Amino acid sequence: RNLKQRRLVIASHVTAAFSSNLRIPEEWTHVGKVDPKEELQLTFVLKQQNVELLEKMLGLVSDPDSAHYGKYLTLEEVSALVRPSELTQKVVRHWLQSYGITNSYLFKKQWFFLLNIGGLHRLPPKRQKDVFNRKQSQPKAGLHLGVYPAVLRARYNLTSADVGTSQNNSQAVAQFLEQYYSPADLAEFMSIFGRGFQHLSVVDRVVGSQGRGKAGVEASLDVQYIMSTGANISTWVFTNPGRHESQEPFLQWMILLSNMSDLPWVHTISYGDDEDSLSTAYMMRVNTEFMKAGIRGISLLFASGDSGAGCRHVGTTQNSFRPSFPASSPYVTTVGGTSLKNPFKMTYEVTDYISGGGFSNVFKMPDYQVSAVNAYLKSMAASLPPQSYFNTSGRAYPDIAALSHNYWVVVNRVPVPWVSGTSASTPVVGGLLSLINGQRLLKGLPVLGFLNPRLYKLKGQALFDVTNGCHLSCLDEQVQGKGFCAAPSWDPVTGWGTPNYPALLTALLA
Ligand SMILES: *[C@@H]1O[C@H](CO)[C@@H](O)[C@H](O)[C@H]1NC(C)=O
Ligand SMILES: *[C@@H]1O[C@H](CO)[C@@H](O)[C@H](O)[C@H]1NC(C)=O
Ligand SMILES: *[C@@H]1O[C@H](CO)[C@@H](O)[C@H](O)[C@H]1NC(C)=O
Ligand SMILES: *[C@@H]1O[C@H](CO)[C@@H](O)[C@H](O)[C@H]1NC(C)=O
Ligand SMILES: *[C@@H]1O[C@H](CO)[C@@H](O)[C@H](O)[C@H]1NC(C)=O
Repeated sequence: RNLKQRRLVIASHVTAAFSSNLRIPEEWTHVGKVDPKEELQLTFVLKQQNVELLEKMLGLVSDPDSAHYGKYLTLEEVSALVRPSELTQKVVRHWLQSYGITNSYLFKKQWFFLLNIGGLHRLPPKRQKDVFNRKQSQPKAGLHLGVYPAVLRARYNLTSADVGTSQNNSQAVAQFLEQYYSPADLAEFMSIFGRGFQHLSVVDRVVGSQGRGKAGVEASLDVQYIMSTGANISTWVFTNPGRHESQEPFLQWMILLSNMSDLPWVHTISYGDDEDSLSTAYMMRVNTEFMKAGIRGISLLFASGDSGAGCRHVGTTQNSFRPSFPASSPYVTTVGGTSLKNPFKMTYEVTDYISGGGFSNVFKMPDYQVSAVNAYLKSMAASLPPQSYFNTSGRAYPDIAALSHNYWVVVNRVPVPWVSGTSASTPVVGGLLSLINGQRLLKGLPVLGFLNPRLYKLKGQALFDVTNGCHLSCLDEQVQGKGFCAAPSWDPVTGWGTPNYPALLTALLA
């Protein structure tokens, strides 16, 4: 009963402590104080130990040339490695007790460092655009092919035999912002589009509560497509209940993962925020949670975003590109988007101009990508956007891509065409990685885990290089709506390109 009030005491205390360095992004206005009766759920995260060691070890277990490759840790081992020190725990406990909060209120589970209090000192995601989906382009007159499972399976060279066969394999999508998947829509989707390959038509497990609202396009898209490429593989949905418009959901979701010992190997997530709307401390902590997942052998795939290089007004006349997080985390695999050169035929792929990509202003460039990115910067030097628009010392993304244009999705029992966005390409790539994980498990090999170090060592082998087209950016005189352009080999628009499944399977089974 008193907890509510006490929470509010902390809330005002913390707000005061943080307000001095609270950045109010453009497009936001400070309208006043929150109603004191407003309830808030707080997450206290404690400083963890050995984060540098964790990072180093993750590099080793993910590097195919290391003797430690695939030697993943269990959840218990990870927890022991990073456990907050006694001192940290004591300090935070005392601090809370000084506000009358006793142990009985406190989490019995893990302690998290008071580095950041999720949902309190950050601004909510601005609009639905933060869900990377449903850029529904206008239907053009005449025939339209559109993308559905058979198109993807043909383009990426999957045969009817390329379905999951390993019993211990599973994959997941995570949903936020009150998006719910509909079991009936999934069944309908598979009855219409699931011909010609063995697949499942039901989700095996839902973690979290499915709301009663209408099915969301995003949730439908993710589930329907991860189960089409990752066909016949057990699929889970992680769903965050309640309103999240004022709560960044990633930390809660990662905390949930860090309390489950049996998890799917591949997770795809089609949500993100502008890096500049989040605090660095928050992003650093979420990034550490990504490392903790990676060292357990879990692959996290994030959509690169649907605004190309993005645009941020940094001064009255000055603009810069606008990176998106978690796409910009060095410890996730970020998926960009493409479209078919000729949408009426099975042609090669070109850049989808919405494909998110660029350079982080927060995370520095990880070693695994330095030579690929530098090669791009060098070969494109003459035609790059002005240096003031992006930060070449940052983590560059995306890493890989897949079709993201004109998908068919079943929503509220109706097949809907023209659904586009990197939230389509992300589950498609996730399902393919799950298939490869399944083949590895059958051979007694460890799963792929954090893929990037291995992906960059392939140097584009087994991927269809996308070399045509540029993505969008600031509509100003200097760049005139143009961001980066695709080029041979890696580029910050489509990464290394799109998967040629049989070749990728061979390369990643070695
Ligand atoms: C998850 O949290 C509960 C307490 O909420 C704890 O008892 C349990 O040991 C945790 N499980 C793991 C695997 O960390
Ligand atoms: C895969 O698809 C591409 C183009 O769609 C084709 O050129 C190639 O021969 C196919 N097969 C393999 C095994 O790569
Ligand atoms: C589907 O997966 C199951 C294991 O979960 C396997 O026994 C079955 O053979 C698979 N189906 C096909 C067509 O490979
Ligand atoms: C699945 O995992 C369980 C427990 O880890 C193991 O005993 C079993 O042999 C595995 N089955 C297959 C088909 O790999
Ligand atoms: C550029 O990125 C680095 C991280 O690699 C960061 O430390 C630095 O602050 C960024 N510069 C700007 C102007 O944002």
